[in-house]
Amino acid sequence: MVKNSENLEKEILKNIVSAKSLEELQNVRVAELGKKGRITFLMKKLSSLSSDEKKNHGAKLNDLRNKIVDSISRREKEIRDKIILDSINKEKLDISLSTRPGPNLKEGKIHPISRTIDEVISIFSTFGFSVETGPEIEDDYNNFTALNIPEDHPARQDHDTFYLSRSDNQERKLLRTHTSPVQIRTMKNKKPPIRIIAPGRTFRCDDDATHSPMFHQVEGLAIEKNINMGHLKGLIEEFCRIFFDEEVLPIRFRPSYFPFTEPSAEVDIGCDKKDQKLSVGKGKDWLEVMGCGMVHPQVLINCKINPEEWQGFAFGLGVERFAMLKYGISDLRNFYEGDVRWLNHYGFYPCDKPSFTWSKVKEE
Ligand code: PHE
Repeated sequence: MVKNSENLEKEILKNIVSAKSLEELQNVRVAELGKKGRITFLMKKLSSLSSDEKKNHGAKLNDLRNKIVDSISRREKEIRDKIILDSINKEKLDISLSTRPGPNLKEGKIHPISRTIDEVISIFSTFGFSVETGPEIEDDYNNFTALNIPEDHPARQDHDTFYLSRSDNQERKLLRTHTSPVQIRTMKNKKPPIRIIAPGRTFRCDDDATHSPMFHQVEGLAIEKNINMGHLKGLIEEFCRIFFDEEVLPIRFRPSYFPFTEPSAEVDIGCDKKDQKLSVGKGKDWLEVMGCGMVHPQVLINCKINPEEWQGFAFGLGVERFAMLKYGISDLRNFYEGDVRWLNHYGFYPCDKPSFTWSKVKEE
């Protein structure tokens, strides 16, 4: 019945292998195995044969049929793989494009104030200080009274305060004049020991080449047992040495007065102010960069901390002053003018390395 079965097999397998698309392959399948296909036709004809012939031809036909089915599915897989590969090649992405999404896209820079605050935080975090924040609109109690500056105290005049208008029956709120109220809020809410720094914006009614109505401070507070002025001095010196990346830094503590610390000091850094350029370390000038001292016992009592048991020190540093000294910025007003050319020059890329050497941090 299947005369030339070898030729038939060859012909069909050749048709399968040379099918170029899924449609062509489907046509071969229909022509051989479909309802009216050649193999189907031969299968049907088996019934008219004698049982011996049926056995013989039936087995051969089944073999042939299985070979065709296998070959078709192998070819189908080859065609499908090629379709995928072709589309991958066609849709290949040029990933180098993603580094510059467009020719006119301007890269932003990090403002020196933000950068300086980040640096201060990362250095103090190695000394075990965590970050606390507080509101910029404060009440009189947290900004002044709790800090031992009562209503009629002359120190209030040093803080030219922006007051908000009073709403009915409410106390007069103000824009905080320093970040020290965060010290009060923390002591009221947390039990000692405490080691915190409080970065943030502060406001005073003052505007000239060296003062701005809005500026930034980082307040620091440590409350522990048996800590003293020596610890404060050591910490500040170590911090400045790391921040300015200078092994030897001219730094001096000047006795001063703050109502909330006793004794109090101001910290100056040696610098040179020649030719509109400010540089650290060299020259005969000094720039005042921070106030500090041992927390006044009355402030501890106001926050329900027993001064017989706990002592503390606090410091408040001017972020702009530190940034000016470190990055050679001579005019404070440039920080806030929003001049993109200035920011392009003095700003930082997000992935710029820190500008101090961590190996200089002493192991405790
Ligand atoms: N709060 C002070 C100021 O703004 C700085 C300071 C903070 C001084 C902590 C001593 C202790 O001038």
